[in-house]
Amino acid sequence: MRLRHITGSEDMVAGSEFVTHEPEKLKGRWASDVFHNDHPIHIEIGMGKGQFITKLAALNPGINYIGIERYDTVLLKAIRKREDAVRQGAELSNLTFISIDARLLNDVFAEGEVNRIYLNFSDPWPKDRHANRRLTSPIFMAIYQKLLAADGILEFKTDNTELFDYSLTSIPQSGWKLKSVTRDLHHDAAMNEGNIMTEYEEKFSAKGNPIYKLVAEPAGSSKEL
Ligand SMILES: C[S@@+](CC[C@H](N)C(=O)[O-])C[C@H]1O[C@@H](n2cnc3c(N)ncnc32)[C@H](O)[C@@H]1O
Repeated sequence: MRLRHITGSEDMVAGSEFVTHEPEKLKGRWASDVFHNDHPIHIEIGMGKGQFITKLAALNPGINYIGIERYDTVLLKAIRKREDAVRQGAELSNLTFISIDARLLNDVFAEGEVNRIYLNFSDPWPKDRHANRRLTSPIFMAIYQKLLAADGILEFKTDNTELFDYSLTSIPQSGWKLKSVTRDLHHDAAMNEGNIMTEYEEKFSAKGNPIYKLVAEPAGSSKEL
């Protein structure tokens, strides 16, 4: 993603009531201390401008959502989107954002604290020497496995063939099981049911690119969708 710096974005993010600051202090206490309930927690890693998670949160008030983005310049756009949604009457007390790199997720979430992980149009990092930066690399899958509940799942969408092919290998190699896979989400009635489009998904599907999706769970888990 090409970034244009927005002057003061760090300060605006630091001052936003829609961002949970010092998230490592909430480890193991997200539902009770942030959302004040015992609802399941779903996170989107690399949420970008936030359309996907903001719409999901409005549709599912019984689920707690946390959007994770490492660049404040981008996070600020998600904050603005949320402000617009609230102005239009959405309540969204079940949604918060955090400004961190996904590498630090085990400092922020306790073992089994998260019930679902969404990865949408993650940066492809095409060079072999950068493979460890891909959000579906074994390094990240180990981080996710720790914070995911025993019956939790991971959902991944992309239009990038190389990243998807890589993930179809890296995810099982990391000890996870693929539950469902499609190479044309928008024409797969079962997997597309209830699909919420991300900003990138809208952009790339408008160009005619097929959208790939997989759903995975840690091996040994027995959850049926
Ligand atoms: C290509 S954009 C996709 C945005 C959005 N998910 C969508 O589908 O429209 C990928 C986003 O992931 C963020 N990102 C990439 N690596 C990350 C990491 N290690 N931790 C947190 N965010 C990350 C980037 O900053 C960028 O905003």
